[in-house]
Amino acid sequence: DLYGDERRNSFSPNIEIDSQWAPFKQAVDGFMQQQWNGGPIIGGSQRKTEQVHPVLAPQNHNIRVGEMHWASAQDVSEALDLLSDGFVSWNATSVNTRAACLERLADLLEDNLAELVALCHLEAGKTIQDSIDEVREAVDFCRYYAVQARRGLGQPLLGTAFTGKDRQYRLDGRGVFVCISPWNFPLAIFLGQVSAALVAGNSVIAKPAEQTSLIACRTVELALQAGIPANAIALLPGDGASVGAPLTRDPRIAGVAFTGSTETAQLINRSLAQRDAEIVPLIAETGGQNAMIIDSTSLPEQVVRDVVHSAFASAGQRCSALRVLYVQEDVADRIIEMLRGAMSQQVVGDPSLHSTDIGPVIDLKAQQGLLAHIEKLKASAQLIGQTPLPQSASQGTFVAPTAFLISDIAVLEREQFGPILHVVRYKASELDKVIDAINATGYGLTLGVHSRNEETTRHIARRTRVGNIYINRDQIGAVVGVQPFGGQGLSGTGPKAGGPRYLPRFTREIAL
Ligand code: NAD
Ligand code: ALA
Repeated sequence: DLYGDERRNSFSPNIEIDSQWAPFKQAVDGFMQQQWNGGPIIGGSQRKTEQVHPVLAPQNHNIRVGEMHWASAQDVSEALDLLSDGFVSWNATSVNTRAACLERLADLLEDNLAELVALCHLEAGKTIQDSIDEVREAVDFCRYYAVQARRGLGQPLLGTAFTGKDRQYRLDGRGVFVCISPWNFPLAIFLGQVSAALVAGNSVIAKPAEQTSLIACRTVELALQAGIPANAIALLPGDGASVGAPLTRDPRIAGVAFTGSTETAQLINRSLAQRDAEIVPLIAETGGQNAMIIDSTSLPEQVVRDVVHSAFASAGQRCSALRVLYVQEDVADRIIEMLRGAMSQQVVGDPSLHSTDIGPVIDLKAQQGLLAHIEKLKASAQLIGQTPLPQSASQGTFVAPTAFLISDIAVLEREQFGPILHVVRYKASELDKVIDAINATGYGLTLGVHSRNEETTRHIARRTRVGNIYINRDQIGAVVGVQPFGGQGLSGTGPKAGGPRYLPRFTREIAL
């Protein structure tokens, strides 16, 4: 979508981390010893249930972050009843009032920044910088959707037809929207979905990822404090099979916003199709097999910096992350050598330290899957480099950033959601074959291009079928309202999150 690096144009002010680091870190440290407890929130109060799960920090399983109570089948049913009633009054509330709730919630997120950063860092294993960015993005979503709602939802939409007749309608909430989110953006994506659905007039049942429900629970408490009525929002923590699946089968729901793997989105799509009930929208944002194409006119230092950041930042646990790097033959040896050097300089380890570049992966299941992929490739592909792990890595779930030389993107069966980079060498005459191979994966989320030849960049951008194309920069970290984010094909349905067309998908058109 965009050219250049626009991260500084964030909707909310940047935190000047260098000048404010010491006092801020002190405030975050103050929360590090805290224990958080969470559970289903229905009717404005938090419940305790029989199913209690300890929450341990991914970077060190000796750190107990708290415990989470998962919702029962009875909680699911009660929430659906309550929220079906709650929809009517919330939808009748003015758009201005709904938007003001989102703005108060954004203020509350900022007021509670240190606690949310500590919680995000401990529960999801994110570095402090990633955790700050996470809260900022959540704030951005609230403020951006509040502005979009006031602009597009409040007033009647009308037009006089050439027949002379007036046609009038407005955009209204649809009913109970189910928001199902992943663990890799446990606050930003969780709240991005929830805030959009709410401001559009829906009541919302939020089903956070089972790995990161504590921060979701804290966020719903803040949403209630911000004035969202107790019968307009509910939180149902639990796993996909026992909480997510029953929600998406239920005839009372009016739509689903989902972010997660392509496989789960396909399951939900089938589940919705099998209901003997209203046909409802599914907004799905899913995985990717993201590539970057580098030609011989690119600047090697810049390329390597952007490749390392795109592939390994956040331990590669971003849907946007770079998975397959295509390097033109003429510059391949040099780039690969520089990449090996840069990887050896990365610091993996304790994500609370300013000096750490890469933290842990989310859990044992993720770690085992990634290690199995590395072992498989060690037997069949050439290893380019591997960042060493510190001794302390055995206390948590770490995976060493690793790069392999492979023959083509087609040899990869599925998205590897972690710090593993695959490199492919190509000849200048093969550029169209490269583009065809990327398109043939069926995914279409992000694409990076490094070239100083304008014709090449235009050609690639025109021919690849992906949601977000980043030219001569890294390919992660889309900014709300500046870089609307979302893919196509197996990567999602659209509309793009953080863009002007997102809110209308949560509404229905009502004749006046
Ligand atoms: P996941 O699909 O395993 O889980 C996502 C959510 O779906 C969780 O809340 C889970 O409990 C729930 N779920 C699982 N089975 C379900 C079912 N049968 N019915 C209803 N809900 C169910 O994904 P994940 O491991 O949490 O997240 C990683 C994936 O998310 C990666 O594939 C990544 O690419 C993708 N992702 C995409 C975007 C995007 O914007 N396109 C952003 C972040 C992550
Ligand atoms: N919006 C997130 C990014 O761009 C997923 O990295």
